[in-house]
Amino acid sequence: MSRKLIVANWKMNPQTEAEAIQLAKAEDKKNVVLCPPFVYLSNLKLKTKNSKLGAQDVFFQENGAFTGEISPLMLKSLGAKYVIIGHSERRALGETDEIINRKVKAALSAGLKVIFCVGENLAIRRRGMKAVKNFIKQQLSKDLRNIGNWKLKIENLLVAYEPVWAIGTGKADTPKDTKEVVDYIRSYLNWKLKIANWKLLYGGSVNAKNAKGFLEVSDGLLVGGASLQPKEFLKILYEN
Ligand code: PGA
Repeated sequence: MSRKLIVANWKMNPQTEAEAIQLAKAEDKKNVVLCPPFVYLSNLKLKTKNSKLGAQDVFFQENGAFTGEISPLMLKSLGAKYVIIGHSERRALGETDEIINRKVKAALSAGLKVIFCVGENLAIRRRGMKAVKNFIKQQLSKDLRNIGNWKLKIENLLVAYEPVWAIGTGKADTPKDTKEVVDYIRSYLNWKLKIANWKLLYGGSVNAKNAKGFLEVSDGLLVGGASLQPKEFLKILYEN
């Protein structure tokens, strides 16, 4: 069974807690991180035993007058070990590089493992791989600004390469292009933060058919749509 990390990003699904429990039980395997909506975390902690739990977002303050927000320590107290930060769907809702930078620092300081997402849109991809690398480099340098000075547990930082045009579209990237970008991210971070052994994931229309190719060029997968279909998700795990 799976040795690389397979992260299930359920997004704003499913609609009820009963369905969430059913889905979690079906996907409760080793090396899996389930990222349900916040509200299901505490109950899923009780209902799962092999998988780890993650959240889909977090706020950067520890507590106080921030209506509707959730702090890193709250997530930890519910049993979450991971948190996704900087997903393109959150960026599309207005999350800026500065906010993402603060969130990454706050989550790492609290001891959470961060699945930090980067990726270019279609217009950039059409300009070629050089433009893609340039864009990713900017995201990395803005969103991880000063992170090396914070004495954070940088080994808790995972980077997910998710080309925006591949997310939820059924049009996954190719393993070849993914490898080029993933290798670029790895060497940029090695140089910038002087740390080797980065864990890099691929996300964007991963399914049972294409999972193997992406697993060969990355350290794991971030799976959206297919993680809502247990049969498909389990097939992805068997490719690992
Ligand atoms: P997708 O989503 O697998 O449905 O493309 C991936 C993601 O948004 O993380």
